[in-house]
Amino acid sequence: MKRKIIVTGGTGYIGSHTAVELIADGYEVVVIDNLYNSDVSVLDGIHAITGVRPRFYNEDLCDRAKLDEIFTAEAPVDAVVHFAAYKAVGESVKKPLEYYRNNLLSLINLLEVMEQHRTPAMVFSSSCTVYGEPEELPVTESSPVQEAASPYGFTKQAGEIIIRDTMAARPHQKAISLRYFNPIGAHPTAHIGELPRGVPENLVPFITQTAIGLRDELKVFGNDYNTPDGSCIRDYLHVVDLARAHVVALRRLITGENKANYEVFNLGTGTGVSVLEAIAAFEKATGVKLKYSITGRRAGDIEKIWADPSLANRELGWKTEINIVEAMETAWRWENRLKNKES
Ligand code: WQD
Repeated sequence: MKRKIIVTGGTGYIGSHTAVELIADGYEVVVIDNLYNSDVSVLDGIHAITGVRPRFYNEDLCDRAKLDEIFTAEAPVDAVVHFAAYKAVGESVKKPLEYYRNNLLSLINLLEVMEQHRTPAMVFSSSCTVYGEPEELPVTESSPVQEAASPYGFTKQAGEIIIRDTMAARPHQKAISLRYFNPIGAHPTAHIGELPRGVPENLVPFITQTAIGLRDELKVFGNDYNTPDGSCIRDYLHVVDLARAHVVALRRLITGENKANYEVFNLGTGTGVSVLEAIAAFEKATGVKLKYSITGRRAGDIEKIWADPSLANRELGWKTEINIVEAMETAWRWENRLKNKES
């Protein structure tokens, strides 16, 4: 019998790509998502790629009774991959309590219901945002976690601590937190990708929307940083590489290769790329000249950060395989697919 995995937030950007990789690896995937920041048509995209349409519950994880019903209906569940959360940094500053309630209550409900139903394992979607502005680069898993710069960031830090403490009290369960650096790109088939709400906050959707004519120009937030070309540096990894990391993390938990019942891994390429280099990669991938100008710094931006992914390389046997030019190409294919869908 196939192992059954509940993917919360499975119609979202990273969740949908992970659902695809899990199905390809032979798992049965069940999606729970309240479609707050995603669209039910994403299930069609997953179906188009895999030939499988995951069973879908349009429910909110803050509704504990509903969650209990789902776990009863789906029993036995082998593991949960937990993506569902609010994720806009700027919005979280304006609506802190909504972020705390949604992101933390959903996690607490999930952990309680998992205990009730004896679900043995969880993979949690965390973020490099927990490191703040790092003092040393690249950042390893033991680099200090800095005070969160936004309520969103705090929900990731708190989420990790909630899971860590819960696992310490429950030797019969296990969990892995995955700290993502900057996920970009779309599935190479262009059946699924990122669906930003309104004006994108993130660099790559802003680039592709500018190139396709939805935005006038990209504003590069600052060229006076202490970096070789003056623009900020990040570690951009392709979303399919990231999705595959969830599959190997899950396998580690299921096969018992984990060294402790709570573990944390950085997921990145290990290479820092500046904003100007990212633009050049987009232009190289697509042959499209991007309209951009330099403007002032964005409040709260980190100057430079990239991962030391060697723990994930060693322990999970995972490393990124798709480079930034290929990643930009997939992002562009997806943007064009969205345009054709609308017209
Ligand atoms: C990347 C670079 C900008 C837009 C993200 C998530 C955050 C957290 C960490 C998950 C920066 C520059 C951007 C634009 C620009 N992820 N930029 N013009 O800042 O690393 O944050 O990763 O937990 O939620 O948002 O990513 O894509 O916003 O920015 O110049 O229009 O691009 O200044 O240097 P960031 P980003």
